[in-house]
Amino acid sequence: SLMDKGNYKHFMAKEIHEQPEVLGHTLSRYFDYTTNTANVAGAEKLNFNKLSRLLISACGTAYLAGLVSKYWFEKYARLPVEIDIASEFRYRETPVSGNDAALFISQSGETADTLASLRYCKENGAAIGAVVNVPESTIAREADMVYPTIAGPEIGVASTKAFTCQLAVLAALALQAGRERGVLSAEREQELVSELTEIPSLALKALAAESEIEKLSQPLSKADNALYLGRSTNYPLALEGALKLKELSYIHAEGYAAGELKHGPIALIDENMPVFVIAPYDSIYEKTVSNMQEVAARGGRIVLITDRKGAEESGGAAENTVIMPDMSDIVAPIIYALPVQLIAYHTAVFMGTDVDQPRNLAKSVTVE
Ligand code: G6P
Repeated sequence: SLMDKGNYKHFMAKEIHEQPEVLGHTLSRYFDYTTNTANVAGAEKLNFNKLSRLLISACGTAYLAGLVSKYWFEKYARLPVEIDIASEFRYRETPVSGNDAALFISQSGETADTLASLRYCKENGAAIGAVVNVPESTIAREADMVYPTIAGPEIGVASTKAFTCQLAVLAALALQAGRERGVLSAEREQELVSELTEIPSLALKALAAESEIEKLSQPLSKADNALYLGRSTNYPLALEGALKLKELSYIHAEGYAAGELKHGPIALIDENMPVFVIAPYDSIYEKTVSNMQEVAARGGRIVLITDRKGAEESGGAAENTVIMPDMSDIVAPIIYALPVQLIAYHTAVFMGTDVDQPRNLAKSVTVE
């Protein structure tokens, strides 16, 4: 049954490994592969071509999916995104009007702060879209339009497959917005969609790094602190990596935009500090690698998550390297989420913590 761990020790492991399949289901709902276009039913409710900005609000890992999508909406649709954590958004008294559209992202569809933010935007006349995994949830019911993730039930408290499926839906919405706003050419859209079709097979290849990740997680489980660095869409992933380490293995971890290293966290670097650097070989790779070298010069122990070319160009600064398959920019945050999840999972297993039910945490936070 769906509530069964199958051959896995934990629901979290099962849910991580389900990603190639559930990403395939979610993508095929939102993309038309005969024409290689984004095909989001109900996208017109958000009036993409009339918006001057898009509001996004969510909590926890769902918020970090929204933060990745900000880069996409801005890059591919030239649509400015204002994103905030729902517990802040709901009390900020930010101006919202009938000219706005707001997106709320939630696995459970029941998170109290996200729901309150939705109600605030609705009362102020905004069009409301919801990216949810539970279609009969309160957030789904109260939205004008629901864009469901097809992740299936997620039992592990720490969100994994729901996160990557949220990213898949948000990528479709961003490309749809780009087309409707007249900024994405038909050729470019087709190219991006055909790149996105690679996701299920790339996710399978990414999972092949698991035994390598398991090995490097054992020494990590003895660390008291860890740092995650990334730029661009890998910055939200750095935040996600740190969040997962805190949640699952109770290791104090921080995620930072690699460019902010100099403005604080570099003071923490010494030989006891593991530093995870997420840096595929893309247009910003050189910048991230130079931050990585600053960490290496201070004795920090680096785990570099990159691709074949990125490993070659890294100048030997990393103590461990996790190699991902080659992929295009738009799919990278979805695929690089997998090693980040596996690092937290295996570290927690070595620590002996309750992976599916970490202390003090709840799957669905329905009270403030
Ligand atoms: C809790 C869970 C997280 C989740 C967050 C938001 O903190 O432990 O995994 O990301 O709530 O939940 P939602 O259901 O709104 O996505």
